[in-house]
Amino acid sequence: MYKVRKVLPTGYYTMVKKNEQIVLGIETSCDDTAVGIVTGNKKVLANEVYNQVTEHAPYGGVVPEIAARSHVEHLDHLLANALKTAGLKWHDIDAIAATAGPGLIGGLMVGMVSAKTLCLALGKPFMAINHLAGHALSPRLVADISFPYLLLLISGGHCQLIAVEGVDKFKRLGTTIDDAAGEAFDKGAKLLGLGIPGGPNLEKAAKEGNAEKFKLPRPLIGTSGCDFSFSGLKTALLREVTVIANQEKPLKNKTIQDLAASYQMAIADCLVDRSKNALEMYRDLVAPGPNPTFVIAGGVAANTLIRRRIETLCEKNGFGFFAPPSWLCTDNGAMIAWAGCERLGNSTPDGLDFTARARWPLDEASTPKIGHGKRGVKV
Ligand code: KG4
Ligand code: ZN
Repeated sequence: MYKVRKVLPTGYYTMVKKNEQIVLGIETSCDDTAVGIVTGNKKVLANEVYNQVTEHAPYGGVVPEIAARSHVEHLDHLLANALKTAGLKWHDIDAIAATAGPGLIGGLMVGMVSAKTLCLALGKPFMAINHLAGHALSPRLVADISFPYLLLLISGGHCQLIAVEGVDKFKRLGTTIDDAAGEAFDKGAKLLGLGIPGGPNLEKAAKEGNAEKFKLPRPLIGTSGCDFSFSGLKTALLREVTVIANQEKPLKNKTIQDLAASYQMAIADCLVDRSKNALEMYRDLVAPGPNPTFVIAGGVAANTLIRRRIETLCEKNGFGFFAPPSWLCTDNGAMIAWAGCERLGNSTPDGLDFTARARWPLDEASTPKIGHGKRGVKV
């Protein structure tokens, strides 16, 4: 039996007025199978998410083949549930959007084929959505945020600072040269035996710990630019755990909590330092006017310490700050549907020959930092 989590605050389900554009969004790029339905004037009518965490837990991380099969198994039910929750029939849907990349290719293909089939059968327009654009535009679904804005996109596969200048206009200011922020959380959690989901589990353990207890490095802090690096921090945690394990086996709960808190603080310090440089770069490059805005998005943006630290940075530097609610930070279908709504008003639909892209940078003009080659840039 599968379990569906309804990740909506009460009050979001409302009646649809005539002539409002209704877009259904499908998200299958990693280990969340998700369907959302939103309207052009920002009503979230449904947001169904099935998280595959228990299926991947025995392997200590996401297994692409299991993820793809699980999407196949659950997508139909989620689509039916989303329509039911929204109180709609298929003919009420104006367009169908699906994540087309970047992500795990098997999962992307499941979502894309389902969306294309529905579009073909129903005669609706199809929108191929960049998953990162879904995150990047998500704050506009729940707040009155106009272009341009500065974005810190922190998720399991990505860590970037981006000037968002329009629905399809992104300028990358900085990116990671090795691991993403979410990857750092997940690998740290694995090392500490906290299991998956790594980020939320590590945050929970850190709440009880002393962040001053262990001195861990802050890679790239104090250097110019706004690129990130987390792999040295992860190695430092491994070294610390190895040393402690000589005297303490298994690690005491208190030690794990202190390590988690120290590690989380190091990640937050890195994000704040790099974001500070980005504020200046953004001001020079985009000239955003007297009231610039900084938003954070992606799964790691659900982290309370990171939200608070970036908010303080913005207050000190004259930037308005916005973080979406946590149900919109982690992967979901509403953000894909919303990106579809934004696109519908600005560009033509995509053809049914649009193929899934495992790699798909938001700013195609920026030079790759890692993972470049025939398939394009990874991060
Ligand atoms: O955006 P997302 O749901 O999927 C990707 O696009 O990758 O982000 C997932 C990442 C995972 O690495 C997860 O551990 C991390 O976001 N994450 C968190 C928290 N919630 C999710 N990291 C730190 N603190 C959290 N509360
Ligand atoms: Zn994501």
